[in-house]
Amino acid sequence: MEDKVLNTDYRKFLHDNQFCENWLVNNQGECQPYFPNFEQEFAEPYRLYRFLTDLENILGMDLNDQDRLNAIIPAVRQLLTSADWLHTNYAQPNSQTGWSITSIYEEPNYPITVQTVAWNPNNVSPVHNHASWGIVAIISGEEKNTFWQRSPDNPFKLEKTEEKVFAAGDIVGFTSDAIHCVEPLGQEPCVTFNLYGEADYAQRYEFDTIRHTAKNF
Ligand SMILES: [Fe+2]
Repeated sequence: MEDKVLNTDYRKFLHDNQFCENWLVNNQGECQPYFPNFEQEFAEPYRLYRFLTDLENILGMDLNDQDRLNAIIPAVRQLLTSADWLHTNYAQPNSQTGWSITSIYEEPNYPITVQTVAWNPNNVSPVHNHASWGIVAIISGEEKNTFWQRSPDNPFKLEKTEEKVFAAGDIVGFTSDAIHCVEPLGQEPCVTFNLYGEADYAQRYEFDTIRHTAKNF
């Protein structure tokens, strides 16, 4: 497939959307800008428990992945703007693995993963989906994402679609079968605030893009 990173249309796309900080990645591996078209009122100060309440209300609205992400992304931005403590609420990456995960909120049977992740440069994730909607907000550092889509004739044969570098301030929503791999860039750890819904583990895969196979993780 044509490499859109070097494609003139894609350069123009990035130029036209250089001030966009919200992005949606769909099951076809397309990364599209998202400008919320409504002004939302949030409680002040927008504390974590208020965000979690709003989140639970949105999840109760029976929306499709994209509409759910559209509704949650402004709340994530408001939370990160309001709750400074979240920006430093992460562990330094483990020296062996190169990454760390800090849970921000959990309780028994609570279906949402809320965490901060810090990850050192010079690591690349496997190519994977999440089998759940997800949102990644970059708190600091930079992260290169490569997006893929499934081939129509073989769901485990992937075609690369786009690459994009996200930086602090970017918030990226992923639909359930959005497929990507991730690589922190620069000299500092990339720190992100991550939200994931309940995964359908039977549909969650790491893909081998050479052999056209996949395994659950
Ligand atoms: Fe991911």
